Amino acid sequence: MSSRQDSGRVIPLPLASHHSASRSSITCKYRCGNACQHEAPNTSGNAYFGDIVESVLSRRGALKATGALALTVGGASLLTGTAAAAPKPGPADGPVRGAVPGTDFAPVAPNTQDAVVIPEGYRQGVVIRWGDPIVEGAPEFDFANQSAAAQEKQFGYNNDFAELIALDRTGSRSLLVCNHEYTTEEHMFLGYDENNPTEEQAKIAWAAHGLSVVLVERQDDGSLKPAPSRYNRRITLTTPFEVRGPAAGSDLLKTSADPTGTKVLGTQNNCSGSLTPWGTILSGEENFNQYFAHADSVTDPVAQERLARYGIEGAESTRKWERFDERWDIAREPNEVNRFGWIVEIDPHDPTSTPVKHTALGRFKHESASIQVADDGRVVAYTGDDERFDYIYKFVSNGKVKQGTSALARRHNMSLLDDGTLYVAKFTGNSPESEIDGTGTLPSDGHFDGTGEWIKLASGTESFVPGFTAEEVYVFTRLAADKAGATKMDRPEDIQPNPVNGKVYCALTNNSNRGSEGNAAPDEANPRVGNKHGHVLELDDDTTGTRFGWNLLLVCGDPNDAGTYFGGFDKARVSPISCPDNVAFDRHGNLWISTDGNALDSNDGLFAVPVDGPERGFVKQFLTVPKGAETCGPVVRDKVVTVAVQHPGEIDGHNAGNPASHWPDGGTSQPRPSVVAIWREDGGEIGRG
Ligand code: FEO
Ligand code: CA
Ligand code: CA
Repeated sequence: MSSRQDSGRVIPLPLASHHSASRSSITCKYRCGNACQHEAPNTSGNAYFGDIVESVLSRRGALKATGALALTVGGASLLTGTAAAAPKPGPADGPVRGAVPGTDFAPVAPNTQDAVVIPEGYRQGVVIRWGDPIVEGAPEFDFANQSAAAQEKQFGYNNDFAELIALDRTGSRSLLVCNHEYTTEEHMFLGYDENNPTEEQAKIAWAAHGLSVVLVERQDDGSLKPAPSRYNRRITLTTPFEVRGPAAGSDLLKTSADPTGTKVLGTQNNCSGSLTPWGTILSGEENFNQYFAHADSVTDPVAQERLARYGIEGAESTRKWERFDERWDIAREPNEVNRFGWIVEIDPHDPTSTPVKHTALGRFKHESASIQVADDGRVVAYTGDDERFDYIYKFVSNGKVKQGTSALARRHNMSLLDDGTLYVAKFTGNSPESEIDGTGTLPSDGHFDGTGEWIKLASGTESFVPGFTAEEVYVFTRLAADKAGATKMDRPEDIQPNPVNGKVYCALTNNSNRGSEGNAAPDEANPRVGNKHGHVLELDDDTTGTRFGWNLLLVCGDPNDAGTYFGGFDKARVSPISCPDNVAFDRHGNLWISTDGNALDSNDGLFAVPVDGPERGFVKQFLTVPKGAETCGPVVRDKVVTVAVQHPGEIDGHNAGNPASHWPDGGTSQPRPSVVAIWREDGGEIGRG
C-alpha cells in the first residue's frame, strides 16, 4: 500500500490517475454508442468558443493539464481484503464519529475489489438480479437458455435508476422501480456474434430494456426480498406508451405504424429518474441515438442537421435491430427516432396504466427529471442533457398540484407536465474571465459562482425561438437551445432539488474536451480544461422565476490535486471522488452522490456530503461497487440504502466466455447487474454513529 506520513499518522494515498478515459470501451460502445469517440454534437457558436481558449492560454502561460496530480502512485490496488472484511477508513483524517447526522460512518477506502464494500457495522444483501422472476409465470433465470418470452417477465438488464416507494408507514413493503438502461450483448450471450445477431437475441434485448416494478418486503434481518404482487410489472421496448403534451400528434412524430403520432412502442436507454410528489416515476430516455441505422442515407440538409445534433449517424446500428424491425431503420421510418429522447412517466401503483411520454419537457438525451413544488402549487421539473457541451433545462407547469397520492390526484398531477413553459439555462460567472485559468484554481473571490438566467424556449403552442415552430422546439430542443444562447456544460447528469434546504444540485460528470481545440473554453461554471473528474453544481433557484444564483459545491478529483475543491472543507479529511453522476438526499438534507467512471483507478462508489454547516463539503465514501461496475440509482432511507450495480465486469477484453467479475453469485458465475441493499447490523439509522 502506498502511503504518506502526516502528523505522525499513516494515511492511504488517494489513487493516481493515468487513464485517458475512465470508462471501458465496451461500456461506451453499448451504453452510449461510443459518444466520447466522436466529436461532441454541439457545434453551435454559443459563447466561449475555441478562439477564446487561445487567448486564455496565451494570457495564462503554460496551462497544466487538468487532473495532473500532486502525488502519483502506481496502479496498485490499495485493498487486498475480502468483501466480508470492512476496510479501514480512507483518507478522511478527521473524527469520523460525531459527524453530521446521516453521514456519521467510517468511510470506505478506494479499492478495486470484485465486491460491494461497505462501512464497518453495516450488512448488505442483493435485492434482485438480472433475470430474476417478477411477473406471474416467469421462469427462473437460465443464462444458457434465455428467451424473449422469459425476459419479458424477468428483471431486465443493466439497472440504472432505482426507487423505493413505501406502501406502508414503516416501509416494510415497498415498490422497487428500476430502469434498465441498455444491453451488453457480448456479456449477455455466450459466443455472441456482433455481425450476425439472431432475431431471438434482438428480442431478448428489447425485453431487457425498459423498467421493472416489483414489490419488495423487508425481512427480519433487515434485508429486502422481492415478492409476488399485483403491482409487479415489466415495461419493455414493446409496451405501448401514450405521447402527450404540445408535440403529441405532430407530423414529426407520425410513422406508418402510428399515423396519429400519439402511440409509441416502448422506451429505451432509460437512465436516471425520480419519484414525483404524487407517487409516479419519471425516467429519462438518454442515448437513444445509437439504436437507429442508416442516418447516412438521409440527403435533405435540414434532416441531416437534426440527426447530427443528436449524434445520429452512420450505416448499421451497433445491435443491428434494423434487420428485424424496420422502425430502427431511418431510411424506412424517418420519424421513429423522433419518438425517443423524452421524459416518460409511469404509475407504478396501477399496473394496467399506460405510461406517458411528455413532449413539453423537450427532446434530448435526458439523464432524468425531478420535481420541485413551488409555493403557489405549480411544479418545476429540472432536467439535464447528458452530453459534452449540452445544457440544463427546466419546465414550469401552468397547473397546480393536487395533494396526495390517490388515484384521482395522480391522474390530475400526471397532466401537469403537459402544459407549461420550457426554459434552458445560461450561466454567468461573477469573477473576471482572466481568473478562470482552466486549472481549477479558485478565483480571487474564493468561489466558482455567479448568477444565471432561464431562457424561455416555448410555452404550449408558442415558440420563443426565432425560426422554430413550437413543435420544432419540443422535438429538436437541442437546436432551439443553441439558438437561444444556452451555456455549454460538462455533461449535466442528475439534477435534483434538496427537500431540506430547497436548493437544486446537479452532477456534471466530466468533459475531456473542455478547452480543447475547436471546443468551448473553461468558464466559471465549467472551470477546468479537459475536465476529467467532474463537478457538482448548487443552484439557488427562483423556482418558477427566471433567475438563479449558483456555485460549485465540489470540483471533484484527488484532494491532493490543487485543482479540486470540497465546499471549502479541509481536503486532507475527505474521500477522493471522481465523475459524479446520480444524486439523492437523506432526510437530513445531506447530498449522496454516486459515480460513473472513477478516473482515480478505484472502483465507482457512493458518497455522502453535508451541504450546510461546518461540515459542508466533507465528502465520505459509503461504499464501492465491484470491478467494471457503475454505482447508480442511490436511495437513502432511515434504515436502508439501496444502489443499482450496473454493468459489473464490463471491462475491455472480457465477455461472457471470459467474465471479469463473478459478482454477485461468486465462484465461476456470470456477473449480473443487480440492486443491493445496505443496512446497519444493529438495526439503527443509516449514518447515525
Ligand atoms: Fe446513463 Fe448519463 O448516464
Ligand atoms: Ca466567483
Ligand atoms: Ca447516469
